[in-house]
Amino acid sequence: MVSKKKFIIGLGGVSMATLLVAGLGHSMDKPDPAEYPFAPSLLQYKKSGAGFTPPEKCGECHPQQYEEWTGSMHALAFKDPIYQGELNKAVKAVGHDIARQCEGCHTPAGVVTGEIKGPGISGLSDVAISGVSCDMCHSVSGHTGWQTPYRQPENGSLILSPGKDTPAGPVLTKYGPYKPEEGCGDDFHECVEQPLHKQAELCANCHQVNHYETHTPIESTYKEWKDSPYAVKGIACQDCHMVDFDTFIRSADTMKKPERGEFRHYFNGANFLIYALTEQAAKKAGDAELAANVHKKYEMAVARLQAAADLEVSPVYRDKKLAEIKVRVKNLRAGHNLPTSLTNIRQIWLEMTVKDLDGKVIMTTGTVDAKGALPSEARLFNSEGMGKGFHFAIDPWEVVSFARQDAIPPKGYKDVYYGVSAPQAKEPLVVDIKLRYRQAEQEVAHALLGAVPKDIDLAAIYGLTAMPDLPIVDMVSKSVKMDPAL
Ligand code: HEC
Ligand code: HEC
Ligand code: HEC
Ligand code: HEC
Ligand code: HEC
Repeated sequence: MVSKKKFIIGLGGVSMATLLVAGLGHSMDKPDPAEYPFAPSLLQYKKSGAGFTPPEKCGECHPQQYEEWTGSMHALAFKDPIYQGELNKAVKAVGHDIARQCEGCHTPAGVVTGEIKGPGISGLSDVAISGVSCDMCHSVSGHTGWQTPYRQPENGSLILSPGKDTPAGPVLTKYGPYKPEEGCGDDFHECVEQPLHKQAELCANCHQVNHYETHTPIESTYKEWKDSPYAVKGIACQDCHMVDFDTFIRSADTMKKPERGEFRHYFNGANFLIYALTEQAAKKAGDAELAANVHKKYEMAVARLQAAADLEVSPVYRDKKLAEIKVRVKNLRAGHNLPTSLTNIRQIWLEMTVKDLDGKVIMTTGTVDAKGALPSEARLFNSEGMGKGFHFAIDPWEVVSFARQDAIPPKGYKDVYYGVSAPQAKEPLVVDIKLRYRQAEQEVAHALLGAVPKDIDLAAIYGLTAMPDLPIVDMVSKSVKMDPAL
């Protein structure tokens, strides 16, 4: 294909349209509807008499995995009110046929069975509402990532095969990471070894989101990981996200893979906000067990955020006077960019205050105002998405390029220099600096919560009678003394 493109360029006079069609070739065509009936989601479904099993059923024999998965972001992937608000907006903007791309990752079973017709949670089956439930991973017989435009998994390119028909009736098949032992599945399911479960490529099917039409990578956790030192050393997503906190630290610092028995089904990342909301909802519903479960997950998410990064602060002198404060922001333990995924929505930024010894403020930057807004000069590590007309865009169906990509690469760092005009004082200055994180700008989160479908009553379910102040987690806080002159 490369030589073909070269050939056409060599002709010089060939029209742009011909060049695009011939040069990009078959791969940019719309997915073949016979092969991908759920496009733009690339899910495939091997339908048989053996359908999907609700997670509660799996939990009867696998109580530990069930308890760990319950209240996880995967269990909440469809119910998540922030998601439901955005899905509602997507359906209104581009219609349900295209918004099915979203559902393909947020509730794959709901899509392939045709049950999900759009946003909303009422009247749905257990499996559909359970989002990324047990069967969404353990019915995966393979993926078709090798035939996508980038030849990598993306946009739900999973093959779901929950079972098969036999002369004796339907049989459930569950795919797992290990060679099955005698009696595996207790006559409820047969067991098949699936090497994919040990690899990042299982996760990549959903953790690589490309635009439904232009194919621009919009959420690229998998691609970022693939280019990282972790991928080189074979440390997969599972080795940090399917283990407890201490094991995650060990994976990140020593690149030693966890052993069987150390894996957990927490799928814990950064999203402390949704755990906090779910805890509120569980308390309101009188479910103390779920409230305690998601509270633990909230604490784990905060702990992960606080272990992900570090700051180094140092003075820069010119003519023996303090001229700049240098801040090095390091991505210590995230196996991908920091932040990753929705980099045009997530906010990681520096807040700094410089005071003299009497407490008089000499300079300040990155402080959130009373309305929760960040000042325009705040140093954010994020990206800026753009729509077709080169206008600023945040919605995944609109973003087709990025004006700026400024997240911190895995095991990498970014340096920031703040100019200061130091006072003539002799006493040292006190520099208080923080690296802060929140899920979204307050206005964006409020707009999404405000757009939830009618059957999600935020007051009745979550006890939200007004839009909440978006919580902020301090990932790193440091206080450093600095001489104003040498
Ligand atoms: C290829 C799979 C995939 C597709 C397609 C997809 N998503 Fe997601 N979505 C994800 C993953 C994975 C995350 C979690 C990323 C993170 O937390 O950083 C996510 C997170 C989100 C969030 C953030 C939720 C929160 O609580 O902060 C919203 C909102 C969202 N998706 C909406 C959508 C909408 C609307 C669409 C369709 C236009 C869509 N997604 C399409 C996989 C997908
Ligand atoms: C997002 C994908 C995903 C979901 C959802 C998921 N699992 Fe898993 N599961 C995995 C992966 C990956 C492994 C392999 C981890 C490892 O290497 O041990 C695994 C391992 C297992 C194992 C084998 C453990 C062992 O050591 O023998 C069982 C049993 C299991 N899962 C059951 C469940 C049940 C029950 C649920 C739902 C409550 C569930 N899983 C949900 C991905 C998933
Ligand atoms: C009647 C009990 C029973 C039910 C219900 C059940 N399993 Fe199992 N499963 C077992 C037994 C027993 C094993 C083998 C021992 C073990 O790994 O716990 C097993 C093993 C597994 C494995 C590990 C396979 C491997 O060796 O890699 C996976 C994955 C799994 N089950 C997934 C599921 C899922 C998903 C469900 C729900 C759709 C489910 N199971 C429902 C009994 C059950
Ligand atoms: C079927 C699609 C699918 C698969 C497969 C999948 N995920 Fe996810 N994952 C999602 C979606 C969708 C979300 C976001 C839910 C939301 O924000 O509402 C998510 C959320 C997460 C989060 C939480 C992010 C946060 O902000 O806290 C982590 C961590 C995660 N996934 C890890 C994994 C790992 C590890 C694997 C592979 C073992 C995996 N996922 C496989 C769809 C998937
Ligand atoms: C070396 C450990 C490590 C590996 C490997 C790793 N992660 Fe993470 N991940 C983290 C840490 C730490 C965070 C929390 C900081 C952050 O948000 O980036 C995180 C956050 C996330 C988030 C939430 C991002 C947000 O801000 O909303 C998602 C989604 C995620 N990881 C998915 C994955 C997937 C998918 C893979 C594999 C392709 C992977 N991770 C590999 C450590 C790791």
